Amino acid sequence: MTYSRIAGTGRYLPERVLTNRELETMVDTTEEWIRTRTGIERRHVAADTQGTSDLAEQAARQAMEAAGVTAADIDFLVVGTTTPDLVFPNVGCLVQRRLGIHGCPAFSLEAACSGFIYALSMADRFIASGSARCALVIGAETLSRIVDWNDRATCVLFGDGAGAVVLKPADEPGILSCHLGADGHYGDLLYHPYGTSRPQRPGDLERPYVQMKGNEVFKVAVKTLEGIVDETLAANHLERSAINWLIPHQANIRIIQATAKRLDMPMERVVLTLQDHGNTSAASVPMALDVAVRDGRVKRGDLLLLEAFGGGLTWGSALVRF
Ligand code: UT7
Repeated sequence: MTYSRIAGTGRYLPERVLTNRELETMVDTTEEWIRTRTGIERRHVAADTQGTSDLAEQAARQAMEAAGVTAADIDFLVVGTTTPDLVFPNVGCLVQRRLGIHGCPAFSLEAACSGFIYALSMADRFIASGSARCALVIGAETLSRIVDWNDRATCVLFGDGAGAVVLKPADEPGILSCHLGADGHYGDLLYHPYGTSRPQRPGDLERPYVQMKGNEVFKVAVKTLEGIVDETLAANHLERSAINWLIPHQANIRIIQATAKRLDMPMERVVLTLQDHGNTSAASVPMALDVAVRDGRVKRGDLLLLEAFGGGLTWGSALVRF
């Protein structure tokens, strides 16, 4: 039986930092409101010259270096993103070209904030089935391009960034299980109205930005994440105390605290990075993982619970023996 394991991690944040204080000068908000209601203190914004693939490329290079692999080794490339550079070529192909990788499948998938977990699950299946031997899995976003910088309810929340992992085959399970879900009936709670095919609804063209009923999303997020934590533990016959680190999607500290409580886990065992980059959608879980790996908190052999929730609505978790 072949399993997959995480062989290396990486991340990239654009240089430009936008603080809560700066946002006070842009919209009717306060530093204190943002920090206490969300946990966010600053976010990074991509330069005008940077697209999602530029961010993804940097994170990928770091992950490949950490895993000790080269472009020639990569035989599967997937990018979770909601903010592709172009309709096509997809971000996977753009990154593939930058990295000098030839021939392997390369694609992006949209599952909003759950994009990385969905992508990880795909790559894990390809490796476990023997169809791939070295997968590059990326979550990358330039959400600053699709938020309304005049809307205080959304612009204070989001940021840009990218995170990546390299998966390789192993005899012992690294990815123990992935659990994915979605419910399109909640689509109107969090969406972006612009597309390429559907006739736009009245008013959509005038507001081509992220639309969110924050309070309602919050409630569904807490309930759904509690459910997926329980499902993940049950599927692996594990007690809550078995988990060493919770590596959650970084959207709101209050949602993260609720999930930690469900796991009976002190916040010291939760990797929190949202204060530094806000909600970076598909990039947030791999970035948080990379932070905790590089600062030495996450060690080989630790049991990690990765989870995410976002537009669609979509959600997912991955239980990982690092
Ligand atoms: O990543 C994918 C999934 N997304 C999420 O998980 C986001 C989930 N939602 C949330 O994180 C929270 O609902 C928000 C942070 C978006 C909002 O927090 P909240 O505690 O749910 O606030 P609220 O929307 O109920 O608004 C409370 C008040 C309102 O004023 P009134 O009506 O009570 O007078 C808002 O107008 O806060 C006001 N408000 C703000 N005030 C200052 C909303 N945004 C701001 C702001 N600054 N930026």
